[in-house]
Amino acid sequence: MQTIRLDLPGAGLAARNDGAAGLRPEAPVPPRTPVQARLLTKQFGPNVILDQLNLDIRAGEFVALLGRSGSGKTTLLRALAGLDRITSGTLAVPQARAAVFQEPRLMPWKRAWRNVTLGLKIDQPRERARRALAEVGLDHRENAWPATLSGGEAQRVALARALVREPQLLLLDEPFAALDALTRIRMHQLILALWRQHRPSVLLVTHDVDEAVTLADRVVVLDEGRIALHLEVDLDGPRDPADPRFAALRTALLTALGLPPVAAPADAAPADAAPAAAAPAGPETTTGRTPR
Ligand SMILES: Nc1ncnc2c1ncn2[C@@H]1O[C@H](COP(=O)(O)OP(=O)(O)OP(=O)(O)O)[C@@H](O)[C@H]1O
Ligand SMILES: [Mg+2]
Repeated sequence: MQTIRLDLPGAGLAARNDGAAGLRPEAPVPPRTPVQARLLTKQFGPNVILDQLNLDIRAGEFVALLGRSGSGKTTLLRALAGLDRITSGTLAVPQARAAVFQEPRLMPWKRAWRNVTLGLKIDQPRERARRALAEVGLDHRENAWPATLSGGEAQRVALARALVREPQLLLLDEPFAALDALTRIRMHQLILALWRQHRPSVLLVTHDVDEAVTLADRVVVLDEGRIALHLEVDLDGPRDPADPRFAALRTALLTALGLPPVAAPADAAPADAAPAAAAPAGPETTTGRTPR
């Protein structure tokens, strides 16, 4: 595994590359934990956004990251992507990583397939792009201009652009937030299929608690610059938001986010149930049943 270590402040990048000429291996990172953040701090001027944060992500693990708006989720994701320098601490991440953001960020003057391989120096780029587009169900749109793609299609091209890089770490920053509910459910299914196929480690930033519980092995909550909660999601098979175990996880996460649990709808309660205020927590939103 190749690992970039960012030992800051001021140290720049030190590359570790097992077996590559000219690079001396540093302290080995356990291969089953390709992402290790230790005492990671990020400041913007005097504002401390990430405050000595620790986070591990295991190989092939799907982690969802929740947190209030402005809590630093994107800041953390950008640090993991290598887009921003951290202020202090250490961060070990696989070299092969790719990020997808809320907006697809396609170059409007390049056709879909060229967007997929943008910036890559690889053999047979068109064939590689075509294969990646086929994986997201868009091989028939390889020559399309971005302006002619729907929002969901454009986001799938962005996903193909990430896939073609064969990432060991896939970083997703609210990639479904701008999509309609039906497209979002389809994207959930697609992401899970791709994850099963390629098994990268995934960090998915989302505001949607149900989305997090539907997709992730583990949900973490960012608060006050640190990971305030880790919640393993050990639900077998298709995850059903109506399942009481799903509801319990939802309630725990909403509570960690500082939101009061939402009462079950009155008309769904049995006739002799307690008043709504005392009723057990029910679904906050209906995002539909998404097979895992
Ligand atoms: N380049 C920057 N310069 C200064 N402050 C920044 C910069 N980027 C982010 N911030 C600040 O850092 C804090 C965390 O921002 P971040 O975008 O990481 O939050 P977030 O959790 O992703 O929020 P949201 O859920 O709204 O996307 C915010 O207060 C933001 O204003
Ligand atoms: Mg954000």
